[in-house]
Amino acid sequence: MRILITGSNGLLGQKIVDQLNNSSTTFLATSKGENRNPLCADANYQQMDISNVVEIEAIFNQFNPTHVIHTAAMTNVDQCEQQPDECNRINYESVQLLFEASIKYNTHFQLLSTDFVFDGEKGNYKEDDLVNPLSVYALSKVNAEQLLNASSNTNWSIVRTIIVYGTANNLSRSNIVYWAKDALEKEQELAIIDDQFRAPTWASDLAWACIRICELSKIGIFHISGPTTFSVYEIVEKIAHYFNLSTKKLTKSNSLNLNQPAKRPPKTGFDISKAKTELGYNPKTLEETFSIL
Ligand SMILES: NC(=O)c1ccc[n+]([C@@H]2O[C@H](COP(=O)([O-])OP(=O)(O)OC[C@H]3O[C@@H](n4cnc5c(N)ncnc54)[C@H](OP(=O)(O)O)[C@@H]3O)[C@@H](O)[C@H]2O)c1
Repeated sequence: MRILITGSNGLLGQKIVDQLNNSSTTFLATSKGENRNPLCADANYQQMDISNVVEIEAIFNQFNPTHVIHTAAMTNVDQCEQQPDECNRINYESVQLLFEASIKYNTHFQLLSTDFVFDGEKGNYKEDDLVNPLSVYALSKVNAEQLLNASSNTNWSIVRTIIVYGTANNLSRSNIVYWAKDALEKEQELAIIDDQFRAPTWASDLAWACIRICELSKIGIFHISGPTTFSVYEIVEKIAHYFNLSTKKLTKSNSLNLNQPAKRPPKTGFDISKAKTELGYNPKTLEETFSIL
């Protein structure tokens, strides 16, 4: 295998690089900025803007990947709502460019997608449940998914995931476990919503699944998340209990109070039985990951 990774400076991208560093697989890590992952050797890194067709063609021509794991995206959901054209350009049009190159070079194309493709009315979503995006970000991912679905080329996979957390270097944004742990340690006032439900996903488990899909030459959609769905409030409460931090300043709130530009689905969570059966996916519980944070 020769795996091309996009977004290698991001949380998931860094975890994929870490795992491939410990394997015999040849890989090329790419991201928009300079290499910010100290665990990624410069020899394995090249800058590539996923919206630049010339850069994409040059990288495919030079590296000739068997697989692309496409993690790069505009991931700030509220920013996407405020900049819909930019969101569409990065999350949809760039997928067109990368998928076209993948077809040309006979490369398996793997797209990272999201639980936000669903409206959150049902919860515990299966791969073939109907999508109904509520935000610009979600719509951009649905459009990218549909591009693959509609193609006569079936050499692709879609990995949908849910709030991803873990440690990495020089990230441009924090993730819920770190953010909440830090705020609890500083005894800040914390009003946390208890009307949105998610299955938080350990970034290393997700990276493992993305690579596993390539190794097994799987195609189609896979739901990859942590094993249990909690309210956001429950997640923060669990962090406090595990690390023995005071919950005195922790209060329950609801989504309306947040006044966020982008609408979020109230209840997601995945049925991950397909991933368990077909990939041998066995994600860690929240508590198991707290012990190795
Ligand atoms: N994190 C979550 O909770 C979550 C939940 C559901 C789905 N997902 C999906 O999972 C994937 C990975 O998420 P993540 O949390 O690892 O993302 P992330 O940490 O926000 O990283 C995204 C990376 O994309 C790169 N990127 C942005 N624009 C680019 C461009 N024009 N050209 C090349 N690279 C570009 C950035 O590179 P530079 O840093 O080099 O600029 C950034 O490092 C995304 O597709 C996201 O939509 C994530």
